[in-house]
Amino acid sequence: MSSVSSAPAVKRVSVRDIRARKGTSDKIVVVTAYDALFGRLVDEAGVDIALVGDSVGTVLAGYESTISVTLDQMIYHAAAARRGVKRALLVVDMPFLTYQVSAEQAVTNCGRVLQETGAEVVKLEGGGPEVTRAVRALTSVGIPVMGHLGYTPQSENALGRHRVQGRDDRAAATLRDHARALEDAGAFSVVLELIPAAVAADVTAAISIPTIGIGAGAACDGQVLVLPDLLGLNDQFTPKFLKRYATLADDVRNAVRQYGEDVRGGRYPDDDHSF
Ligand code: KIV
Repeated sequence: MSSVSSAPAVKRVSVRDIRARKGTSDKIVVVTAYDALFGRLVDEAGVDIALVGDSVGTVLAGYESTISVTLDQMIYHAAAARRGVKRALLVVDMPFLTYQVSAEQAVTNCGRVLQETGAEVVKLEGGGPEVTRAVRALTSVGIPVMGHLGYTPQSENALGRHRVQGRDDRAAATLRDHARALEDAGAFSVVLELIPAAVAADVTAAISIPTIGIGAGAACDGQVLVLPDLLGLNDQFTPKFLKRYATLADDVRNAVRQYGEDVRGGRYPDDDHSF
């Protein structure tokens, strides 16, 4: 009998695992990943969720805003990330106007994302009636949804670019209502972006699904950062909430400069790097 060797099975993080961490001290760690290379690295670093954010449009593709990102582009990046991410839960941002027009369109588009990429979850921005209708339709056919409230970049033309949301009592109450509506529609978690820490704490206490903060203070059940920001690769973006854990933009510039000097100076390739 021949023996078949197979790679050890990896236990994947599930939607249920994430939900179970609501209100615990076990904080949920989320970063973006847009391709297989960085997907593998963040997975090996032990993140709980890898988010294929539509920030890929502004951070990598150089668009002015995420509004330009298309469904096909998200599918391309999510399928690439899936090839690198083996253990973390893989969440994909649905681009602008792929889920608000009708519940049918939301189900068709989100279904495509799951079928064509192997990702487990979709993320939708907003908490108004068009979005909660989509969340209800999606969850009723078994598509898990992460919500996104506060500063929602796809609405930057209406909200103002990178403006903190929920500063006054009325806006804070709306945020709380939208978070409850998303939970009620079946979302299993919600990102809170750019809102005062006290408001995020209040929203977190008001719902029984985990909140994932970005620029929303420490009371959230987890935190998310955009990977090139965290790595100091995107060094022109300097918001108050961002903590950089590396200075890779400098490393890239220095490495490429040294390579250029070696090539120009005839030091590369040398005998050690030639056949
Ligand atoms: O697109 C993205 O990267 C996001 C995060 C900032 C939450 O939505």
